[in-house]
Amino acid sequence: MNRHLLSINDLTKSDALTILNTAETLARASDGPMKKLPTLRGRTIVNLFAEDSTRTRISFEAAAKRLSADVINFSAKGSSLSKGESLKDTAQTLQAMGADAVIIRHNASGAAHTLAKGEWMSGSVINAGDGTHEHPSQALLDAFTIRKHCAHGNEDLTGLRIAIVGDILHSRVARSNVALLTMLGAKVVLVAPPTLLPIGVDSWPAEVSYDFDSVISEVDAVIMLRIQIERMTEMYLPNAREYSRFFGLDKDRLVRMKTNAIVMHPGPMNRGLEISAESADSARSVIIEQVKNGVSVRMAILYLLLAGTAELEI
Ligand code: NCD
Repeated sequence: MNRHLLSINDLTKSDALTILNTAETLARASDGPMKKLPTLRGRTIVNLFAEDSTRTRISFEAAAKRLSADVINFSAKGSSLSKGESLKDTAQTLQAMGADAVIIRHNASGAAHTLAKGEWMSGSVINAGDGTHEHPSQALLDAFTIRKHCAHGNEDLTGLRIAIVGDILHSRVARSNVALLTMLGAKVVLVAPPTLLPIGVDSWPAEVSYDFDSVISEVDAVIMLRIQIERMTEMYLPNAREYSRFFGLDKDRLVRMKTNAIVMHPGPMNRGLEISAESADSARSVIIEQVKNGVSVRMAILYLLLAGTAELEI
């Protein structure tokens, strides 16, 4: 396994499966009486969040704490990073403080790479979302959730068909998921209006459809994406009602899904826009479970990057 996790491309299929399998072992341990494991005692993990986040930040924090690491939360608001300090200076500061890993979220695509490639720090860098580029830990927790519900005991996702629906253009979740889900053998179909698809999407290893109705009854899982208003610099949507009608997951589409198909969303949701409240709260929805699985998967990532090959003792 690489020292850093910047992109799904840093992983081989076997690395990805090792993360998912380790997460399963850790999830079982978390369900037992001993929630906290001593594995990373004495290690320091820095959560460097230069962009708003709720679930990813607390998920990494919970994961690090369950492995007994010390966690320093460094949010850019009010920090030197917001005063224009360069990533290099921040990295050197974190190195001086003895950070063994830095988990970074940043609105600039490539920020995690810059931090890692500068070699200003000896620790690991984990990308928790960089601009519209990648969000590898989200893709891993999504793959974990899909495998658990849809893979019928198989180790990978061969034979599954998964739809990713909505604002693909601005979504780092979509980019990381397409790379990982196809690596694991699934077929991915992207569903969006043409204005919300990136240039060059034809070269992605995924099918593209503009017709949600023809896709919804054929997939094993549907990943709904948030409309990312904050990244929109021009008009991408006709209007919210129109968008929901063609690309939202509503009750009519929900009932047409395959018997055991699941509904996913990385959060935060715009209820009533890309997903109706009924769909988000339905029996098919595994949205809350994604949050739970996220902690186990991030524990596995931290464990494998920081403790390396040491045998996992539970
Ligand atoms: C995603 C993100 O930040 O990229 N959310 C998350 O990590 N839970 C998706 C989003 O913001 O829509």
